[in-house]
Amino acid sequence: VLDSKDLKIKNVTDQSTGQQLSYSLGDKLEVFGSRLEIRLPTTNGNKLNISIEYDTSPEASAFQWLTADQTAGKRQPYLFSQCQAIHCRSFVPCQDTPSVKFPYTAKITAPKEITLLMSAISTGSETDSSDSTKSIYRFEQKVPIPSYLIAIVGGDLESRDIGPRSKVWSEKEFVDAAAFEFSETETMLKTAEDLCGPYVWGRYDLLVLPPSFPYGGMENPCLTFVTPTLLAGDKSLADVVAHEISHSWTGNLVTNKNPEHFWLNEGHTVFVERKIKGRMYGEPYRQISAAERWIELQQSVVDVLKNGPYTKLIPDLRGVDPDDAFSIVPYEKGFTLLYHLETILGGPDEFEPFLKAYIEKFKYKSIDSTQWKDFLFSFFQSKVDVLNKVDWDTWFSAVGMPPIKPEYDESLAVPCQELCDKWSASSDSDLSQFSAKDITMLTSNQIRIFLYKVLLLESPLSLIKVKKMEELYKFNDRKNSEIRLKWLLLCLKVHWEDSIQYALKFVNEQGRMKFVRPIYRALYAWEGSRDTAIKNFLSKRPEMHTTTAELVAKDLHLGSS
Ligand code: BES
Ligand code: ZN
Repeated sequence: VLDSKDLKIKNVTDQSTGQQLSYSLGDKLEVFGSRLEIRLPTTNGNKLNISIEYDTSPEASAFQWLTADQTAGKRQPYLFSQCQAIHCRSFVPCQDTPSVKFPYTAKITAPKEITLLMSAISTGSETDSSDSTKSIYRFEQKVPIPSYLIAIVGGDLESRDIGPRSKVWSEKEFVDAAAFEFSETETMLKTAEDLCGPYVWGRYDLLVLPPSFPYGGMENPCLTFVTPTLLAGDKSLADVVAHEISHSWTGNLVTNKNPEHFWLNEGHTVFVERKIKGRMYGEPYRQISAAERWIELQQSVVDVLKNGPYTKLIPDLRGVDPDDAFSIVPYEKGFTLLYHLETILGGPDEFEPFLKAYIEKFKYKSIDSTQWKDFLFSFFQSKVDVLNKVDWDTWFSAVGMPPIKPEYDESLAVPCQELCDKWSASSDSDLSQFSAKDITMLTSNQIRIFLYKVLLLESPLSLIKVKKMEELYKFNDRKNSEIRLKWLLLCLKVHWEDSIQYALKFVNEQGRMKFVRPIYRALYAWEGSRDTAIKNFLSKRPEMHTTTAELVAKDLHLGSS
């Protein structure tokens, strides 16, 4: 029994005998697709080799197909996939669950103007001998992977070397900017190897996608996919690349056995990501990242998820579309648990060896939270009394915020807090104490933190003050998307009419869900912008990535397409 979704199955053959096998396709379920049941001949214990001939559909949820006009260079069309969580079934009939792992090879034919890449090692390309307008590409992924890590991209792509095992790929227009932004990749890989053990995937290339890519990054093996919104000229990508590199161990080697244990992938990955950043940029940087994201977790848990079932570290996802359940919770509740354990078990010197041993123990496997916990107890045999004091039930199964809030060092946020306090305390009629110089000494991260603090003030700033901020600090001109997000949320919160056009521009020029969804939700929340937002969404919907469009439709309380 295989998963399939919107696939047109043409025939199924036993490769050794050439015999056609009978099969049936079950009824189509909206999210999960149709079960493809193939009747196998008796094998007498021999391995069976079957082939399935099929077509994918133009609507396949794994893909976005862009016309040449929708790309930066406008020369060639573009195709990219996003299989996580359960879209691979619209690409390949397979056991579309992370509990099953397999190696793969692929041979792909494409127009010769198109460069093709996959989440695998390239094993050569040649002109198609039967049609000289086409090229044939070959790939091999020798390491067994779950289906959600199959990935493909095709387009007018170029590359630059950025390290001994790394290239960056993108349309010509972005490739130099990308090479600059990703220059720290090799240092990050080495730091990660030091923490997690040897890198088994051979190459670590990066692909910068078109703006509609729905995520910040996706850890496709050998070829991480990243959003172009990272190219702001201020190395704001460090977080995302450190994160996706970390998945090369936590996620891609040790894999959650189903989406309910997604925190094993993402919580550990955030933990390793912050270890890398701590080692490269200093411990205060790790600390402030954790502190900032704690507040975002709180916002999501309380305001968006309303302390509901998806705020559990291990939610019940039977019958649920994993895309609907996606949130910051597995990332930050997961990180908080690991950080807490590190603290009570004696600090990094004790806990980092556990991390390495955990990866060594479960590499090439798919596991659940109980296996993780059992291994934790066996590794820290001498500290079982400490572990027994942890309230496991609450951590794993309770809704709401984590039961324990760690004390983070917020020294890097001190100037942000001071500036925020100053704005909050000043009077509308005298803002002369502020000047453009206030923020010149702050890093991009600190500006983002400042804006977030202002956004979360219990008594919001007046519209007058927010307008003054724009006059002095020129936030509307910023390229850094994290800054734009927080700034626009602030403007919409104080109901600044002029900001609506900037918010629409932001959601129209890129499709990263982390930015698009909160902006649409804010536009919806304010009556003054609600109708404009819905109108804008409906007019852009046909060009949007399906996953983004479906989720934004829900954010705007519209039916699905
Ligand atoms: N694997 C995720 C992206 C993902 C998760 C895609 C679930 C589809 C379903 C990726 O590693 C990720 O977490 N990306 C983050 C990066 C951030 C935490 C630095 C993102 O896209 O924002
Ligand atoms: Zn991740």
